[in-house]
Amino acid sequence: MKIIHIHAREILNSGGTASLEVKVVLESGVCGRASVPFGVSAGSHEAVVLFDGGTRYGGQGMLQAVTNVNNEIAGVVIGQEVEDQRAIDQRMIDLDGTPNKAHLGGNAILGVSLAVAQAASVSQKMELYEYIGLISNHPRQDGAEVKLPAPMIVVIEGGKHADNSTDFQEYLVVPQIYDDRGVLSVKESVRAGAEVYLALKKILQANGFNTNVGNEGAYAPSGMPSNEAPWQLILEAIKTAGYRPGIDVMLAADPACNEILVSDDSGDIKQYQVKKENRVFSPQDLISYFAGWIEKYPFVSLEDILSEDDWENWTQATAVLGGKVRIIGDDLLVTNPKRLELAIKTKACNGILIKLNQIGTLSETIDTMKQAHSAGFWTIVSHRGGGETNDTSMIDLAVAMGSQMVKVGISRGERVCKYNRLMEIEERIRLK
Ligand code: PGA
Ligand code: ZN
Repeated sequence: MKIIHIHAREILNSGGTASLEVKVVLESGVCGRASVPFGVSAGSHEAVVLFDGGTRYGGQGMLQAVTNVNNEIAGVVIGQEVEDQRAIDQRMIDLDGTPNKAHLGGNAILGVSLAVAQAASVSQKMELYEYIGLISNHPRQDGAEVKLPAPMIVVIEGGKHADNSTDFQEYLVVPQIYDDRGVLSVKESVRAGAEVYLALKKILQANGFNTNVGNEGAYAPSGMPSNEAPWQLILEAIKTAGYRPGIDVMLAADPACNEILVSDDSGDIKQYQVKKENRVFSPQDLISYFAGWIEKYPFVSLEDILSEDDWENWTQATAVLGGKVRIIGDDLLVTNPKRLELAIKTKACNGILIKLNQIGTLSETIDTMKQAHSAGFWTIVSHRGGGETNDTSMIDLAVAMGSQMVKVGISRGERVCKYNRLMEIEERIRLK
């Protein structure tokens, strides 16, 4: 079915600035619509988010990206068959002509890429996850036994995502509640996560902390005595909510250490400023510090425990910690197949965070995820910190590709729509 019209427009994102929505119209009259998120603690190797600069939206307007979709990109995509996802993505990559989508903007390209997939799935009378399964040669079986991604929920946030909270960015819980056949129940796992989140609110209040939420819908309390203190409160919340830490609910951390990197002028010596503890850490200090956490608390994974280009120390960290927990690369890998290839070769980590806008097309994201799974890596499909939208394509992607987890906050509309979509998919799949 041919694409006859494409239209992009500026919309608002969860941070109150602009983002981009794209609508693709087919000759049958069927439409597909998608919007793109972006992060506030983005890695420097990500696809470029094209902002306008100037004064509109504090410099973060997206009118140039809108124009790029409506003119240049429309010029190479209109008239194409909507089912040719890979060819359409490639046309945009070629038109852009830069390694990081700097000319057209990763935001412009991803908006079209996802809207094309949405339109194709509607045209084929398929759910988006079924359609992504089809085009990725990863058709899934429906039924009671199908394994779906577990929720990975940010419950306390700090770093760049909050003012005055912890040095580290994300404290997460991973509820995994199984039904009587031993299959993960998304609905019950989400409920467990929500109940822990509510229990944590009361515990924070009882300890004199505020419970205002940050970018990702997690609490962002000021005045935490240390970077480790949140774990005690979270463990208490898990128990208060009636769950067993380490059995029903596991923990995960994303300290986002790239954000606390301070290098000397040559950039050769890497040091990390941990203000709460009044200390500067070497990479080895960080590795031992997080090793200490693993000894004490039931973690499934640690993400970005070093900075984005510190390859040698990542390999060392994975050698020391990777047998006990998954070591996840976010800013290190930026959903990029070349960086993933290097990580597989050097054993720099054993899991990858997947964010569609880090690489900028659906086809490249699918390729990265397949490459990760064939190397035995976990894939965790993730929301973005600051500039989220109500688009739920990331959930369909995670289901289609068989990801282990989805990382999303559990309050604020742009987050809960993702869990609501995951629960809807579970109901559809299990009822078939
Ligand atoms: P970001 O942060 O989306 O703001 O970059 C999320 C993360 O680091 O996982
Ligand atoms: Zn991260």
